[in-house]
Amino acid sequence: MNAHLRKAVASLAACAAASGSALAQPPEPTALIDHQHCMFCHTVDKPFLAPSFRQIADRYRDQPHASAMLEAKLRHGGKAHWGDMSMPLPAERGGPLSAEDAHTLVQWVLSQ
Ligand code: HEC
Repeated sequence: MNAHLRKAVASLAACAAASGSALAQPPEPTALIDHQHCMFCHTVDKPFLAPSFRQIADRYRDQPHASAMLEAKLRHGGKAHWGDMSMPLPAERGGPLSAEDAHTLVQWVLSQ
């Protein structure tokens, strides 16, 4: 993408975010999702081996600190909130997960 186009896209995104329209939805971080095998256990809208991303978004959307909690959980694990089974750690899912990547994933999940 050239610099010009990138600028146009950035201002479009800012505009959409400001108006709160559906366009504000972050793009799906497909490579990260594949790399960490998220869809091995989750789907966007149907509970499968794990709660669906939509259920997760509904549960946490209005909780102010949910994003930080979920990012920490994705990176370091934690107590199960949905049942007895907890999520495997990044090392078992495909490799270490940076704070930035965890943030990207959680923002996407919470936008479902
Ligand atoms: C091996 C299966 C598996 C994989 C792979 C997996 N998850 Fe999960 N995930 C679960 C299970 C089981 C739960 C429910 C755990 C609980 O009760 O907190 C869960 C819960 C979650 C939650 C909610 C946590 C909470 O505290 O409520 C989020 C957010 C989440 N997963 C995101 C992801 C993302 C993003 C990926 C890919 C990076 C991923 N998961 C990969 C099984 C998986």
